[in-house]
Amino acid sequence: MGRSLQKPRGTQDILPSEQRYWFWVEDTWREIMLAAGFGRIITPTFEDTDLFVRGVGETTDIVSKEIYSFKDRSGNAIALRPEGTAGVVRSYIENGMHKEPQPVKLYYFGSMFRYDRPQAGRYREFYQAGVELLGELDPIVDAQIIAIVMKFYAKLGLKDLTVQINSIGDAKSRPKIHRALIDFLSAHRRSLCEDCKRRMAKNPLRVLDCKEKSCQSVVDEAGGVVLDNLNTESKNYFTKVLEYLDDMGVEYELNPRLVRGLDYYTHTVFEVMTKTGGLSVGAGGRYDGLVKLLGGPDTPAVGFAVGVERTIELVKTQGVNVPEPMRPNVFVVQLGDEAKKKAILVIDQLDKAGYQVAHALGRGSIKSQLRVADRLGTNLAVIIGEREVHSKSVIIRDLTDGAQESIIDRDMLRTVQRKLKERKNR
Ligand code: HAM
Repeated sequence: MGRSLQKPRGTQDILPSEQRYWFWVEDTWREIMLAAGFGRIITPTFEDTDLFVRGVGETTDIVSKEIYSFKDRSGNAIALRPEGTAGVVRSYIENGMHKEPQPVKLYYFGSMFRYDRPQAGRYREFYQAGVELLGELDPIVDAQIIAIVMKFYAKLGLKDLTVQINSIGDAKSRPKIHRALIDFLSAHRRSLCEDCKRRMAKNPLRVLDCKEKSCQSVVDEAGGVVLDNLNTESKNYFTKVLEYLDDMGVEYELNPRLVRGLDYYTHTVFEVMTKTGGLSVGAGGRYDGLVKLLGGPDTPAVGFAVGVERTIELVKTQGVNVPEPMRPNVFVVQLGDEAKKKAILVIDQLDKAGYQVAHALGRGSIKSQLRVADRLGTNLAVIIGEREVHSKSVIIRDLTDGAQESIIDRDMLRTVQRKLKERKNR
């Protein structure tokens, strides 16, 4: 016998018993997004590798260490998407959405792939619920995206969340920030880890993301260097975003160290964290240069992505009361060949009347069929044996207390309806 097959490291099987949480997150996301005027977009799970190299940034961890890339059979360089924004922007350009009235408001839900070190809340295939708003540059839009996202988490029933927010300035302030950061970091070079020494020259903002203990005191101060070197426009923009958040009653925490792991950000960056655990359940920001960088017209944009697995984990640990997915309300049990034929008609009749009907027509014994009903959580059964075929009747049994009565066929639907109503009122 061969070695038993297992799922790849860092992936998950999401079984039926888990789906109520997935429905809860995905349905809530859809509701919030449609109500706010966003349209759903589905883009490919794989794209040309070049899209992410250019879009997310060659020196980011996501591209340099974590991307799943390969040559397809024609020799094209392909990558599984590590995030959703670059693909949405490519689609925006390719489909001429920049010619439509702006802003263009899009949302998505899908799996992303990163060759990350798997641990709790970190997977190699994970899902994001994302939102992108393209074609509008106004601090109120940044605030609105944050407000919508917080409304989503609140609607899910989550508590203990906070938005951390920062500005890394517009493209014009970037050279000055880089210069100031390099000066500052060079002066503290000896306290930096090897990674940071390397990052410093190429992408000094990345140093702010360093988790090494030895770098912390320098990194804390480096955050201040960024804020101090924002140009007036960027400072004013950021102040306005914060004012609008105050007006909207959205709580936030300033975090001068927040820079994010993707190169496309400008101006506002934000991350939704648990207050107590510091876990990132979603993140986003403004990316005014990306559309142009990928070959489109100069177009501002802002977006956010929810980490679905982490959000679901919180829903569970916080004991949120998640609705049960639809349960079948009637189970049809049959015994014998003739009864099976009659059962098909009864199932059809109940189905047409709008009930969720379950059955186990492949099973012989009543006991094994009732076991299936029990597993599905169905409370009412319609039972048909040979005797019921001949007497043109059915047995209707309440599966919680075992009470049952014989009902003539003509009254079957009406009785099912009455019983279900009684149950609801109990
Ligand atoms: P990101 O911060 O890389 O941003 O990812 C967003 C969220 O995805 C994180 O906050 C986290 O909850 C979740 N996440 C990331 N990596 C993993 C992983 N390996 N396992 C489980 N969950 C993970 C982006 O991807 C940007 N595209 C967000 C954005 C949209 N910015 C503008 N628009």
